[in-house]
Formats: sequence, structure tokens, C-alpha cells
Amino acid sequence: MEIKLLKNVPLFSELSPGELEELLELSEKRRYPKGSIVLYKGDVGQVLYLILKGKVKVVLFDENGKEIILSTLKSGNYFGEMSAFDQMPRSATVVTVEDSEFLVISQRSITDQINKNPHIALKLLSEMSRRLREADEQISNLALLDVRGRVAQILLKLYKGTNVRKGEDYRIVPRPALKDIAAMSGTSRETVSRVLSEFSKRGLISLTKENIIIFEGLELDEDID
Ligand code: CMP
Repeated sequence: MEIKLLKNVPLFSELSPGELEELLELSEKRRYPKGSIVLYKGDVGQVLYLILKGKVKVVLFDENGKEIILSTLKSGNYFGEMSAFDQMPRSATVVTVEDSEFLVISQRSITDQINKNPHIALKLLSEMSRRLREADEQISNLALLDVRGRVAQILLKLYKGTNVRKGEDYRIVPRPALKDIAAMSGTSRETVSRVLSEFSKRGLISLTKENIIIFEGLELDEDID
């Protein structure tokens, strides 16, 4: 069962059944309930976590405890590769947002597999490039857009992640919490609430109990003052 699961993870999709079995034997499965801190920024640790089930957020906190969400990762994604490869402290804190299950893989096991299957290194590089692009975009949004533009960008990004389309509407399902939109767009919950009701009054979005519906105008309007 787990071998099948591993085979579906793009990072390991080209490993033979024997190699997958070896990887499983040398790794440990761990479960964390929703809301658990899996690793802290600054921790020393060199294992990589592959998400078998559930979802996590990668976060940073300022000195007042205000959170900024760098990324959300789901089943099939992994984290912890940075310290596993550069032996530096963890670059961010990782928290479960659902009950989650991980395969914890040592740096040694990954390196052994890379030596046998160099394409794993290419996949890791490609994923690192993708994350760096996202981080560049996040820096640019935080530095160059006003708060309305940042909230609009996050709504569009969340839509791309859920991709539920009904006729001409774009829907973010389920409706994200205000505090999470705030933590992704570098502002407060109160400001997000104000911006969303302004967008709603201007006919750019519609807020329902279950979702947020985005209308065409939002993309064009995202960087207005
Ligand atoms: P590591 O530094 O070992 O521990 C924290 C992990 O969070 C890090 O490895 C990455 O796996 C992940 N991470 C850090 N920054 C980002 C980011 N900007 N986007 C996605 N994942 C990240």
C-alpha cells in the first residue's frame, strides 16, 4: 500500500519497487494532529518530511508573534529538504493545518537514492526553482503592491490552488479564514475584512458562507489605490 503511495509521489516515481521498499524500510512514519508544530525555525535537523496525508503551512513569525505564511503544502509535497542539504538550521516553522501523516526520510537515505537515481536531484532542483519563483513573487507583492493589491493577488492565488469554476465565476472553496488571508498578504485580519467588504461592494467578489466567488474584474483591478 505504502509503496503504491510512494510511487505516486513525483519525486520518487522512477524508483524501482526494490528501491522504494528500501526507502520505506529506512524511513519512519509519524502522525501529527491538526495544529501541531512539526519543526521550528532555527532547529537543527537533517531529515526530510514527505507528506503522506494532510496539509501543512510554512510560516515565519515576527517578534510580536504575527504570522506570515510562505506556503501551504499538501499530500505528495515535502519539506525540510533545505536543512537536509545545507546542514543549516531550519529556515521556517512548519505547522499542520489538518491531521497529517509524514514519512520522515534521513538525509543519508535521500543522498543514497540520488547517487543511484540522479533524476531525483533534477526533480529537487526543479521544485526548488518553483519555490524560489513563488518567493520572488511574494517579495515583489509585499514590497510593491498596496494592501488591496496584495489581498487581490492572494485571492487569485488561492483560486488557482482550488480551481473551482462555475460558469463565469471563479470560486475559492472552502472559504479561507480571514486570519489566513491576512497571514499570506502581510496585513491584519481587520484590514482583510475591510478590503473584502470593499471588493464585495464594488462587485469584484461575492462572499458566501462556503466560498469566495471572484469575478473577472478583480485581476484587472488588483493594483488600484
Ligand atoms: P528547512 O529549512 O529544512 O525547514 C523549513 C522548511 O520549510 C524548508 O526546509 C522548506 O522545506 C520549507 N520552506 C522554507 N521556505 C519556503 C518557501 N518560501 N516556500 C515553500 N517552502 C519553504
